[in-house]
Amino acid sequence: MKRPIAYFAGTGRGVPSTVMTNFDFAAIGIDTTDEWIVERTGIKQRHIAKTENATDLAAAASRKAMEKAGVQPGELDIIVLGTASPDRLLPSAAVDLQASLGASRAAAFDVGAACSGFIYSATVAEGLMATGNADTALIVGVEKLSAITDWTDRATCVLFGDGAGAAVLKRSKQQKGILSTFVRSDGSLGDLLCRPAGGAAKPFSSDVLAERSQYIKMNGREVFKNAVRSMSEAATRALDSAKLTGADIDLMIPHQANIRIIEATAKHANIPMAKVYVNVDRYGNTSAASVPIALDEAIERGVVGEGSTVLLVAFGAGFTWGSMVVRL
Ligand code: ACO
Repeated sequence: MKRPIAYFAGTGRGVPSTVMTNFDFAAIGIDTTDEWIVERTGIKQRHIAKTENATDLAAAASRKAMEKAGVQPGELDIIVLGTASPDRLLPSAAVDLQASLGASRAAAFDVGAACSGFIYSATVAEGLMATGNADTALIVGVEKLSAITDWTDRATCVLFGDGAGAAVLKRSKQQKGILSTFVRSDGSLGDLLCRPAGGAAKPFSSDVLAERSQYIKMNGREVFKNAVRSMSEAATRALDSAKLTGADIDLMIPHQANIRIIEATAKHANIPMAKVYVNVDRYGNTSAASVPIALDEAIERGVVGEGSTVLLVAFGAGFTWGSMVVRL
């Protein structure tokens, strides 16, 4: 096995204080039930940002990760941030985070890989560390999906939540850290989950606002099928390249979109649900933030710790998918 280049030196999460349960949808006129949402998705509640911006959530998660890693903002060489819901379209969310943290030495940039954003960001950061361009990296997944959700569309608005997760990567000097990574995408399926307007091809206009095309549109059935297939593939590919099997994994941390997608992925990877971290019931789908939030929780709760082998797997709009085996 190759010596890992980077290891997870600290993790953190930041979530909005406001919690919205499935029962709260009635108050905003959405025709749904707790039973429907729980049965189809496993989601019971989500955190919604009422006062916080994405940068605030990302900064809260990052400060915790840096504190645990014993790293000062000025020591960061790079900030790689995955998001589909930045506070503004220009400049990047990563430079807004950089300013908030005072990480003046860093090169900061966003990675556009939707729900796979954290795994893509970790992969990019590891690559920059491998080429000697960075020794200390901050990787972040953050979303304020509530700002780009159509709150009149019951097929999507019940799914998403807001939050951020972060990790500090340091150069590995032992046999711990990122053991393997796998990333893939298929842009031919981009229309199945997208925000049609608001970009340069279809800028904001009164027509856009009238048709609500600035919000997330999704073909749920197709997303579901592809998510199961691609997350299963990703789990197998990262295990294979680390020369491990499901039996070697202490915990799988899948993207938290839907309990049925998680169960199907675990089955394919031969990992029992007892070794799968699930918090979709409490956070909903927080896209790029879901894997690092779950990783941070799993470490904080002692589910995994020093020496544990963890499989991270994600899938999202693009479609994008990816995975990573990490020895903590
Ligand atoms: N409450 C009640 N009824 C609803 C709701 C709701 N919130 N949403 C849709 N329905 C209704 C539909 O109108 C439809 O009614 P009809 O039969 O009278 O037309 C019925 O439920 C079935 O709708 P479907 O969309 O076919 O329901 P499905 O079983 O596919 O479940 C779901 C929908 C949960 C979205 C599912 O397709 C899914 O989980 N897809 C994956 C989507 C996902 O996770 N996306 C996240 C982004 S990508 C990612 O992170 C992986």
